[in-house]
Amino acid sequence: MQICKTFSEIRATVGEWRRQGQTVVFVPTLGNLHEGHLQLVNLAATQGDKVVVSIFVNPLQFGKNEDYALYPRTLDADVEKLRGAGANALFCPSDSEVYPNGVEEQTTVAVPTMTNILCGATRPGHFTGVTTIVSKLFNIVQPHKAVFGVKDFQQLAVVRRMVEDLCFPIEIIGAPVARADDGLALSSRNGYLNAAERAIAPALYRTLVAARDTIAAGERNYALLGARAQISLLEAGMRPDYLSVRAAKTLEPAAPGDHDLAILAAAYLGKTRLIDNVTISIP
Ligand code: PAF
Repeated sequence: MQICKTFSEIRATVGEWRRQGQTVVFVPTLGNLHEGHLQLVNLAATQGDKVVVSIFVNPLQFGKNEDYALYPRTLDADVEKLRGAGANALFCPSDSEVYPNGVEEQTTVAVPTMTNILCGATRPGHFTGVTTIVSKLFNIVQPHKAVFGVKDFQQLAVVRRMVEDLCFPIEIIGAPVARADDGLALSSRNGYLNAAERAIAPALYRTLVAARDTIAAGERNYALLGARAQISLLEAGMRPDYLSVRAAKTLEPAAPGDHDLAILAAAYLGKTRLIDNVTISIP
């Protein structure tokens, strides 16, 4: 696996692969890699000839009260995991090359409306931080395809919208949510849960599945369904931020005639905020 720390190194590497006619698939990450990330890498390997993974803890997407300084930097362990997973290149740029004028002076890329709801409502500026770094990484790495986890459903929808609106010649692939045996979606944040919280955490997925089953059985009052599911989360010992049935592409509140739905949830366990989602297609 080639390790590229500068824009010129990754551009030379990917440029050579492209000249050889190889399809380059990109997996952007914040590092602190777990099994869920490695599943993204495995999926990427099935989608092309070369897999490039980036590790960059992006300050622009962390809010003032969020854990940017505390976000675990585990580069050596990450490199070993990526080698094991068969990635072809790792791109790990420095803050100073990515943001030479500082984050305050960075030109930004902002997707409107769908970034201000759900997670965007409590994390102002977060998605603009994401779309800005993802567009920079796309321009630097120049992949043919990019893989994002469906676990961050809103992020995936926002990235798809950005790619469509700004005509990036990159195919976006959603990778299924990787789950522990008890259903909990794999996340770096699970490491913050104590034993009692970890035992409660699978209730988030169970509640989403129950909501999906209720829709499959014919329920179309999505607002009521969401409110009831939030009560289930409270009863399980979680503090819901939201649980809402949405149109999968636009993330607008689902209407009875919509076909492709996503049920999205965010909830706190102690200080840890977990997110998860399930989807359902109605014929
Ligand atoms: O999902 C993530 O890990 C990050 O938001 C991403 C896409 C790597 C951008 O920093």
